[in-house]
Amino acid sequence: MDNRELWEMAKKVLKFSYSPYSNFPVGAALLTKSGKVYLGTNIENSSYGLTICAERVAIFKAVSEGEREFLKMVIVDREGEGLFPCGGCRQVMAEFSLDMEIVLYDSIKNEFNAWKVKELLPLNFSLRRE
Ligand code: THU
Repeated sequence: MDNRELWEMAKKVLKFSYSPYSNFPVGAALLTKSGKVYLGTNIENSSYGLTICAERVAIFKAVSEGEREFLKMVIVDREGEGLFPCGGCRQVMAEFSLDMEIVLYDSIKNEFNAWKVKELLPLNFSLRRE
């Protein structure tokens, strides 16, 4: 599964984003080590603080189906442009896969760039000892 395919899938689910308050739909496509893809969109709420980001929806869908090892995630906005995950999502990513790559499309340079979760959230909080 290459970056462009995941990007296309993340763009496709933007239409399912429930974001009437921000009007800022976000799509995420998560590739697991087992080769499956889980898609997510942001889901907002009248009680704004209950909003959940697209990245966490994709991760929680995957974890709730038995997946815990992730290779990469592509995140897109309405233009297909990449956006960096919020701090809360970085912590959730760090729980499962510090080596996962966050792949973002740069429309100006027409290229994909990647950062590992451990680069985006160095010195993360963890109770796990491995
Ligand atoms: N959002 C995401 O889905 N992912 C991010 O990484 C940042 C923000 C959503 C939350 C909210 O629905 C909207 O974007 C505006 O903040």
